[in-house]
Amino acid sequence: MKKKKRTQKTAGVVIEESIRITETTAETMQIYDIVPVGGNVGDDMRHMADINDEFSHTMEPILRMYHAAMHATETRLTVIKDEFRYRGLRCPIHHIDTRLKSAKSILGKLEKKGLDLTLQAACNNLYDIAGVRVVCPYIKDVYLIRERLQAQDDIVIMEEKDYIAVPKKNGYRSLHMIIRVPVYFMNKKQMVPVEVQIRTEAMDLWASLEHDIRYKSLYQDIGVDFSGELLECSELIYQAEEKMERMNNLLED
Ligand code: GTP
Ligand code: MG
Repeated sequence: MKKKKRTQKTAGVVIEESIRITETTAETMQIYDIVPVGGNVGDDMRHMADINDEFSHTMEPILRMYHAAMHATETRLTVIKDEFRYRGLRCPIHHIDTRLKSAKSILGKLEKKGLDLTLQAACNNLYDIAGVRVVCPYIKDVYLIRERLQAQDDIVIMEEKDYIAVPKKNGYRSLHMIIRVPVYFMNKKQMVPVEVQIRTEAMDLWASLEHDIRYKSLYQDIGVDFSGELLECSELIYQAEEKMERMNNLLED
């Protein structure tokens, strides 16, 4: 323990203060165990501050705009959900998920589509930067949610793909909509695209397991093609959910 004298002037009086400094054994922090830093840049703080500034000036305002549109859409869906609840009716929405594409995955998609690697190209060609997924109990609920969105007169429906009426070849089923929702800035109103996927819990189960299996088989070359089995699972799931929906119809209609 070491004592250090410090003087301080308070209202003309010099106060002498004793400060205790605990000497600990000098310890060098091993930051690379916590933050893996690689490449040419390493841990150059000036470079990091520069790219952070650039990100805040260009990419961040764009991502914030999509973030706002995504939450505006989620709020509208939550209002629908709440209305059913407080009217004491069965709720057509089981849950809502949201996701915002990262700058890296926006870049990846631009490259995949052979587009210019610019923000302008991203905003005018990628309509799924903001994504909202609505998961419903029954198939009829999917269409009810679509109708409720269509009925909102400040929402523009840009595109609709009904993979429930016509499933994808691999068995994927879902209703996809690209909508534009208004986002108000200080000096302008911007209609921002949001991809809305509406599907049942059964469709959601198939899609998430198919994604997991497809992702794993990409990295494991086991020479097995599961596409036939996956299609069969999709059909089985569809038969089961349709049967259960018929039971529900007898009770609700
Ligand atoms: P982009 O919109 O350019 O991505 O292509 P697209 O319009 O052909 O895609 P689509 O709108 O049909 O599907 C986009 C999203 O739906 C994907 O990002 C997935 O979330 C989901 N999706 C589509 N097909 C499949 C599928 O076969 N399996 C699973 N698990 N999800 C799918
Ligand atoms: Mg799409």
